[in-house]
Amino acid sequence: MTLFNSKIKVVQVSNEGELSSALAIREIVFIEEQRVPESLERDEEDSNAFHLLAYEGGHAIGTGRLVQLGVPPKGEVGTWGRIGRMAVLASWRTKGVGSMLLNDLEAEARRRQLDGLFLHAQLFTRGFYLGAGYEAAGQIFEEVGVPHVEMRKRLR
Ligand SMILES: CC(C)(COP(=O)(O)OP(=O)(O)OC[C@H]1O[C@@H](n2cnc3c(N)ncnc32)[C@H](O)[C@@H]1OP(=O)(O)O)[C@@H](O)C(=O)NCCC(=O)NCCS
Repeated sequence: MTLFNSKIKVVQVSNEGELSSALAIREIVFIEEQRVPESLERDEEDSNAFHLLAYEGGHAIGTGRLVQLGVPPKGEVGTWGRIGRMAVLASWRTKGVGSMLLNDLEAEARRRQLDGLFLHAQLFTRGFYLGAGYEAAGQIFEEVGVPHVEMRKRLR
């Protein structure tokens, strides 16, 4: 991870305005850049999820969320969480922002004493999650027209 700019900080979304900033980043990255239909990008989990925002100065540049699952992924036991909607604005990628967000989502998962985390990684981002200790589980599948692979990380 190359964290070149110490002005970057990650905070928990704690009000509607910050949630709007997180959704705006997702709109740019997923809906505009990746052409994911808005009806699929937004879901009912947003109202209950733990969301993070990365800021550089006063500008929101990245986001990600953690959803606590009612049922663990297939073959697992205990309480698991799902990482999702990881999005860093294009001009800020490969500068360590995604890693900061993922680390802080994992810290929250550990605080909740979750047994593990899973996610659906777009195939081309697999390296990002492999580097953070996630392992691919199962076959490649298509989601919103994009090849994905499920990835998991046990926390204890
Ligand atoms: C995936 C994403 C969140 C990563 O954020 P980022 O800020 O660029 O990631 P970082 O700079 O923290 O990268 C951490 C490490 O992962 C690597 N990495 C980042 N993106 C990668 C990718 N797409 N493929 C392989 N490795 C990648 C970096 O090179 C870095 O490696 P290093 O530690 O050896 O230097 C960002 O690329 C993004 O928003 N992509 C578009 C949205 C998206 O596809 N989200 C994921 C949905 S599953």
